[in-house]
Amino acid sequence: MCGIVGYIGNKPVTPLLIKGLKRLEYRGYDSAGVALYQNGEIKIFKKKGKVSDLEKYIQNKELTATVGIGHTRWATHGEPNDINAHPHLSMSGKFAIIHNGIIENYNELKKRLLSRGYIFQSQTDTEVLAHLIDEVYKVGKVAPEEAVRLALTKVEGAFGIVVMCLDKPDQLIVARRASPIVIGIGEGEYFIASDATPIIENTKRVIYLNDNEIAIVKKDELVLKTIYNNNIIPPDVKILEIELDAIEKGGYEHFMLKEIFEQPRSINDCIRGRISQDGSQVRLGGLQDVMERILKANRLQIVACGTSWHAGLVGEYILEEICRIPVEVDYASEFRYRNPVISTNDIVIAISQSGETADTLAAVQLAKQQGALVLGICNVVGASIPRETHAGMYTHCGPEIGVASTKAFTGQVTALLLMAIMIGYEKKSISREQSYNLISQLLEIPELVSKTLNNVKDSIIIIAENFKHASNFLYLGRGYNFPVALEGALKLKEISYIHAEGYPAAEMKHGPIALIDENMPVVVIATKDKSYEKIVSNIQEVKARKGKVIAIINEGDRTIPKMVDYTLEIPLTDEKLMPILSVIPLQLLAYHIAVMRGCNVDQPRNLAKSVTVE
Ligand code: G6P
Repeated sequence: MCGIVGYIGNKPVTPLLIKGLKRLEYRGYDSAGVALYQNGEIKIFKKKGKVSDLEKYIQNKELTATVGIGHTRWATHGEPNDINAHPHLSMSGKFAIIHNGIIENYNELKKRLLSRGYIFQSQTDTEVLAHLIDEVYKVGKVAPEEAVRLALTKVEGAFGIVVMCLDKPDQLIVARRASPIVIGIGEGEYFIASDATPIIENTKRVIYLNDNEIAIVKKDELVLKTIYNNNIIPPDVKILEIELDAIEKGGYEHFMLKEIFEQPRSINDCIRGRISQDGSQVRLGGLQDVMERILKANRLQIVACGTSWHAGLVGEYILEEICRIPVEVDYASEFRYRNPVISTNDIVIAISQSGETADTLAAVQLAKQQGALVLGICNVVGASIPRETHAGMYTHCGPEIGVASTKAFTGQVTALLLMAIMIGYEKKSISREQSYNLISQLLEIPELVSKTLNNVKDSIIIIAENFKHASNFLYLGRGYNFPVALEGALKLKEISYIHAEGYPAAEMKHGPIALIDENMPVVVIATKDKSYEKIVSNIQEVKARKGKVIAIINEGDRTIPKMVDYTLEIPLTDEKLMPILSVIPLQLLAYHIAVMRGCNVDQPRNLAKSVTVE
């Protein structure tokens, strides 16, 4: 949700900002802008559209600045246009600001500022912040960094900001509450960004700002303080472990395709180092210390959004089956506002690829306040949720850039399986032998994912060609494959803009069956598990109404191919692991249909990868 970058040092800043914004474009791509300090002035350039539009707009200008800030926007307040694009300038022209987040009391602040003569150019909440800083600076006669700090004490809501002041152009003021900020430490230079991706090619040493911290950054000095108490605190310098090629396309046409094909490796990375030498136990360092409490849990409560919520649903089936503990799965946005019953004997598991989703983060905070033990399953190392939770595990999938989540989903399901096997073994709800068998099958999964990709990659193109003009799609699955049906439908909606619904196959007769006719493609996940016979009947129900069926089946199935229009074969594995394989053809189907429809696969309209607003 909006990407922000900043740089202060000796290098020409404009190319650095543009490159950084391109890396962050997955966070929002409604408009982009930069503010540069040059020849005693703050110059602002901003444009509706993508970072490349901004790049074209400034390409022939002589820009020599070595201090600057940049922003790529996902609109919240005010439509995407040039005026609402960031940076915003305060009325005096002294402060330029970029902001990721939402100022919740902006209306109240705006009224006050209007009554004091401030004139607003844009419809954004950010401009309120720019004028507020201006006012505190003017009235309080304090240093610019102090004006920013004091202004932030009056602000409610979420912000990651970088501010530049004309009166002190040798510094950038950076602050955070609930929206992520990373500062990279170079030699005589600092890099600021919403996440580490624009930083890694410049330096590996970083500081993650915590909530309510403010940093005053000069090219050779950084002072970190708390916003409320104004206490200086020592920065905690971390070393980044991601490599540059992990955030580039590596020869693929789109990040999404690269990430789909990366899954054998990303799943392997999730499992690696977490299995005992004899192959009978899972060892998750992050859970060892809290295992006693987990074993006493009355209930597991999973909270997540989007694709992560679908992984949570698979997790419900897995954890109940293996650990025999009741599991509930909630959308984080519902959980946080519905006054849920949480006790100290509950374990809350927050699942989030980015580790920054505002609703999931708020759900974590709520569960903590109410005394639950909160675990995180996240991908981005050092993000807010893993820092806020008591314990947890990383999925170690590597950076996911495509807005439609793919490898994060299979990583999350793998992580949930590992967690379930570890808990089940400790709780003795599964035997050593069962644990060993599950682990052996899990270790084969990366290879089976490769096989799945090879099996289906060509035939899917033919299917996509046949259905690329469809206006609706229905996805059906049962048991472990029901959440996969939801995920398949979500993928198609997100990137091809075709309306699609996922349904538990047996529920079809309570409504969606009315939609079925010869124009309705129905994707049925019909793998060999305990619901196989039942799903065969569901297929017959669809065929009786002339629906077009695309079935995901296991290799060697001789029954279903005779009944349906298309089949896609995946290898056989334990049903608990099947979602990791059955989701693969659905990811590829959505991808190819979207490409054939000329959609922007990596940056679908209106969406953003990391939703840091509620
Ligand atoms: C956005 C993304 C989805 C993602 C969801 C939750 O909607 O576009 O791909 O599943 O947020 O994000 P999280 O980072 O918490 O998993």
